[in-house]
Amino acid sequence: MQPFLIAPSILSADFARLGEDVEKVIEAGADVIHFDVMDNHYVPNLTFGPMICKALRDYGISAPIDVHLMVSPVDSLISQFADAGASYISFHPEASQHIDRSLQLIADSGCKAGLVLNPATPLHYLDHVMDRLHHILLMSVNPGFGGQSFIPSTLTKLKMVKQRIEASGQNIRLEVDGGVKVDNIAAIAEAGADMFVAGSAIFKQPDYAAVIQQMRDELAT
Ligand code: DX5
Ligand code: ZN
Repeated sequence: MQPFLIAPSILSADFARLGEDVEKVIEAGADVIHFDVMDNHYVPNLTFGPMICKALRDYGISAPIDVHLMVSPVDSLISQFADAGASYISFHPEASQHIDRSLQLIADSGCKAGLVLNPATPLHYLDHVMDRLHHILLMSVNPGFGGQSFIPSTLTKLKMVKQRIEASGQNIRLEVDGGVKVDNIAAIAEAGADMFVAGSAIFKQPDYAAVIQQMRDELAT
């Protein structure tokens, strides 16, 4: 088992003070910064692009940045995010014309590649690409917005994906995104996840360190 990683989603951060807020959440114990890119095409919302990622690097943020692309098409943004300082890049396979090519582009750009599966996206998208994956991101809400409720059937899907990872013999991280809170993180870990995205659960509380510590305590039980 790899160490658990907590990845606050800056979708719920204070955009007017983004650098400060990201610094604050890292000081509070975050392992990775989750960066949600929405295009008002693949998902019905619009967020930020590579310039904001670069601005965070220029501000001095050195933690890994986990770019979650909710965009279509995918490929043209990959090198832009790599140049902007992304560490991990994942995309939704049905948004890419050529999944293997997009994964290869991410690896060629020096980033760690992942695929994202929506709640109703079938697991067959994982066929033939397991050896290219650093992480698999299972959406536990429909993508596009923070603050939604965790879809319980994700727990069953997590177990299925975990089995696939084990059968592959690859060292692939299993990340969960959407509705992750202090009160469900233990069950999510129990189902096989080792990387936890949490937006509103962390940024909507005044004391980020307290929430992250509560999550770690839950994970340790
Ligand atoms: C949703 C995003 C998530 C979002 C999670 O499309 O991919 O990363 O920020 O937000 P919470 O944790 O509030 O459900
Ligand atoms: Zn996300």
